[in-house]
Amino acid sequence: MAVRLIKISVVYFVIGVCLGMYMSMTENLNFSPVHAHINLLGWLTMAVAGLIYVGFPSAAETTLAKVHFWVHNISLPIMMIGLAFYVSGTKSAEPAIATGGTLMVLGIIVYAINILKNVRS
Ligand code: HEM
Ligand code: HEM
Repeated sequence: MAVRLIKISVVYFVIGVCLGMYMSMTENLNFSPVHAHINLLGWLTMAVAGLIYVGFPSAAETTLAKVHFWVHNISLPIMMIGLAFYVSGTKSAEPAIATGGTLMVLGIIVYAINILKNVRS
């Protein structure tokens, strides 16, 4: 789980900084929230979760860890694609943002429970 999270996080890192460069070059800052969340929920959050699992391998192999992994990785693209359409003017994409965002919050709660239950000194 740790290795998978770390590898997926760098894919989001590349997408996030490319979008940042595109925004700078075109001076189109509409995509700021998409760029911010790809970097923060894709790159940083997944890299940190992966590194925590490196330090606490027993927490990485639980069902809670697997549920968080899948919910995070399914909800993030839904939320980001929805948000990209929304800031581009397709206001009907709002349900995708709401669904992706709600799933993401639920996944993060599962992750928090996993850490509280299974990370021990
Ligand atoms: C080559 C790398 C990057 C470029 C070219 C870039 C470019 C940009 C640009 C042009 C904006 C809009 C600024 C504005 O609205 O005035 C922005 C916003 C933002 N960027 Fe980046 N960025 C890069 C990397 C990152 C990384 C690595 C992170 C986080 C780990 C990040 C997080 C954010 C956040 C949170 C915002 C929103 C800030 C706000 O609304 O106040 N960026 N970035
Ligand atoms: C389920 C998780 C999350 C949801 C549903 C969410 C939702 C939102 C929304 C609706 C906005 C306002 C966007 C706008 O109108 O421009 C926003 C902005 C922002 N969020 Fe989140 N967020 C989440 C997680 C996070 C996390 C984990 C971080 C940081 C680690 C973060 C950092 C930010 C930042 C920096 C902004 C300002 C971006 C900008 O000005 O473009 N968010 N978020």
